[in-house]
Amino acid sequence: MFDLVVKDGLCFVDGEFVKANVGVEGNQIAYVGREDVRGELEIDAREKIVIPGLFNAHTHLAMTLFRGYAEDLPLKEWLENKIWKVEKLLTARDVYWGSLLGILEMLKSGTTAFSDLYMFMDEVAKAVGESGIRAVLSYGMADRGDEDKAKKELKIGTDFVRNWDNAFNGRIRAVFGPHAPYTCTPDFLVRVKEKARELNTHVHIHVSETRWEVEYVRERYGKTPVRLLEDIGFLDEKTVLAHVVWIDDEEMRILRDKKVSVVHCPISNLKLASGIARVKEMHDLGINVCLGTDGASSNNTYNLFEEIKMTSLLQKVTTGRADALKAKEVLRMATENGYKAYGLKGGKIERGYLADLVLIDRRKPNFCPTYDPINSLVYASYGCEVTHVVVDGELVVEDGIVLTLDEDRIIDKVEGLKEKFILERT
Ligand code: NI
Repeated sequence: MFDLVVKDGLCFVDGEFVKANVGVEGNQIAYVGREDVRGELEIDAREKIVIPGLFNAHTHLAMTLFRGYAEDLPLKEWLENKIWKVEKLLTARDVYWGSLLGILEMLKSGTTAFSDLYMFMDEVAKAVGESGIRAVLSYGMADRGDEDKAKKELKIGTDFVRNWDNAFNGRIRAVFGPHAPYTCTPDFLVRVKEKARELNTHVHIHVSETRWEVEYVRERYGKTPVRLLEDIGFLDEKTVLAHVVWIDDEEMRILRDKKVSVVHCPISNLKLASGIARVKEMHDLGINVCLGTDGASSNNTYNLFEEIKMTSLLQKVTTGRADALKAKEVLRMATENGYKAYGLKGGKIERGYLADLVLIDRRKPNFCPTYDPINSLVYASYGCEVTHVVVDGELVVEDGIVLTLDEDRIIDKVEGLKEKFILERT
């Protein structure tokens, strides 16, 4: 008798869809096969597609509060004139409610785990704990060349890792999140990486997001961001770089050789006119590429199905090849590659992997007829087809309802918080 069984679903196993029963014991998948297994809790998946949970590998979760707040601006102007100003008004409670809203949206669209880099991270951790979702969390640090600030930031980041890593039965992993090579000095980045190595954890950072950033770093330090990071010994298999839009061939080989993971955020990159990353080339070279939405202010959703489709379409048009990146490869980027980037054994429906599972209703007009479920998922999903979500062996979404959170209350709260940010805008 398993703790939970998902019965008769069309499951994504080893890159193929097969009819199978999935047995869960504790927080792990303990059985995948055709035997008639029983569970304390049984979910009928006869009309469902079952996939490993989606991993949103780069977010600023509480930016749900600024969804639709400042639009149609390039990254530098958007950050300096809008976002950084309004973020000064944020309180710990705002971040708590904004995070719950983001989690609600992610769970309902099949995301079981996310990696966040922001502020008031204790509040994000509390929201993660209550909601049942899985998360890799980091305090977003920047020293901006100020030694006092460097010390303070590193202390907040380190305390956060010490206080929260492995909390909630390991559902939270706490890592370091220096903002970017243009807001952090090389000396500060070296200290952050040393601390991360000492505490045996990952580092999550924005790199080469815009052409402006690359030029700025080159002018200031005489080399591009990726080369700078290589020279200071920052890159290894526990380094996760978000964006990586502007890199050359040699930098791509550096990332591959150092076993660095890259988070592709196509919609944010398009919306801020940052550019289109060379995802197919990175993938073909063997770099672990995963997917992220970035913050809700530059996206504007946390629906990873949109990133999946956009990733596929952009690589087809930039390479001029309709066969660039197969549907299956993009689904893997959105699932197992995200878990792998942060050293988690998840993102696969396989014995011994974390029990993070998503059930998707096949009987939807946009999925009909289903010749191959992979094509429905990658090219025809809205995200709202998700019916059930299991995280860490626990059922957290049932028939589209998030069991752990009060959806109406969260929406009311966040609508109520809007007022003070509106004043700042004028
Ligand atoms: Ni970002």
